[in-house]
Amino acid sequence: MTASRLLSLPAELSVIVPCYNEVSNVAPMVAALEGALEGRAWEVIFVDDNSPDGTASEVVRLARLDPRVRVLRRVGRRGLSSAVIEGILSSSAPWVAVMDGDLQHDESVLRTMLAELQGGAELVVASRHVDGGDSGGLAGRWRHMLSDTGIRAAQAVMPHPLSDPMSGFFAMRRDLFESLLPRLSGTGFKILLDLVMSAPRTVRIVEVPFVFRPRLAGESKLDVMVLIQFATMVLDKLAHGWLPTRFMAFALVGLMGVVVNVSVMNFAGACGLSFSWAQLAGTAAAILTNFLLNNRFTYHDRRLKGQKLWRGLAIFVAVCSLGAVANIGIARMMLDSAGHGHWDRSSAAGAVVGVVWNYAVSSTLVWR
Ligand code: GDD
Ligand code: MN
Repeated sequence: MTASRLLSLPAELSVIVPCYNEVSNVAPMVAALEGALEGRAWEVIFVDDNSPDGTASEVVRLARLDPRVRVLRRVGRRGLSSAVIEGILSSSAPWVAVMDGDLQHDESVLRTMLAELQGGAELVVASRHVDGGDSGGLAGRWRHMLSDTGIRAAQAVMPHPLSDPMSGFFAMRRDLFESLLPRLSGTGFKILLDLVMSAPRTVRIVEVPFVFRPRLAGESKLDVMVLIQFATMVLDKLAHGWLPTRFMAFALVGLMGVVVNVSVMNFAGACGLSFSWAQLAGTAAAILTNFLLNNRFTYHDRRLKGQKLWRGLAIFVAVCSLGAVANIGIARMMLDSAGHGHWDRSSAAGAVVGVVWNYAVSSTLVWR
């Protein structure tokens, strides 16, 4: 079939590419797809969360040259999973593929994926952990640890044991996606895990190897927040929606606050501060980290910025100071009685009271 004839055919494969600040990767990405899918009818939808680097305009420029290229631009939103979901929903081919927009995913695998789907597979996952796959492109030991921890946690709770459940590179039948759609949580990074955890056991899943390439331009958006969001999602799935995600997110952040509180308290104590002063320092550090973490994560969708961030922090600090008084009081009381001089235990008990108080306050006053 000639190239011009193919251009006018409805796509058999929609490739969804979530992107944020990937301006210099867009054109090479389109060229890569063009090469890899030669002779097939495809389309690509770049889902851009209004990147400040002008990723969307770059896609528009290319879309004017090639009708198979489209951009879905979301303003005032962030999130890999929701970007992927909305990208798929905006497309129409019977098969959809999801791949990163930074050239770390080997586009030649798309052809294999499409063949597997057309051969009857319902979901095809490109894996770095089956024979022939490789995660060499993962930057550094920290990323390896992050990835391995995630994989082990995920495998423990999955109905389909995948070798690479954190993969961001997969393809599936559209009707399978449609059937799972109502059950997707749509938060965080791990859209594949979200899909697989919701998929019935009968779904035919195939894994194909791929080599994860190093990133050449731009930078990774995956950080420790992603791990927390991921843990929240696993818990959410395990709880079958009985506990609201936001509450669990808050509890997780609160737990980190307790760790911060106790560590800073110990450090201040070692520096010679009295217990009450050391606990005060710990509490202040915990309040600040809790505020920032909740703003970035728990209330990601209502995130405060600029002026509002400072106002929010002021309210948060003011009301939490009341909680802190209770926190220090309880810790002191514990220390004097049941704690029998156990700083850690007393400090933690005080911090827990503080966290419960913070939740009540933050959901009503700070992040309305
Ligand atoms: N629209 C949108 N919104 N896109 C985003 C966002 C967002 O908030 N965050 C990241 N992206 C895009 C990036 O621009 C990139 O194209 C893709 O999603 C993956 O993001 P990276 O920041 O490059 O992730 P990574 O390379 O660190 O992680 C990759 O490997 C992980 C396994 O270690 C991804 O493939 C992950 O999905 C995968 O789990
Ligand atoms: Mn990447």
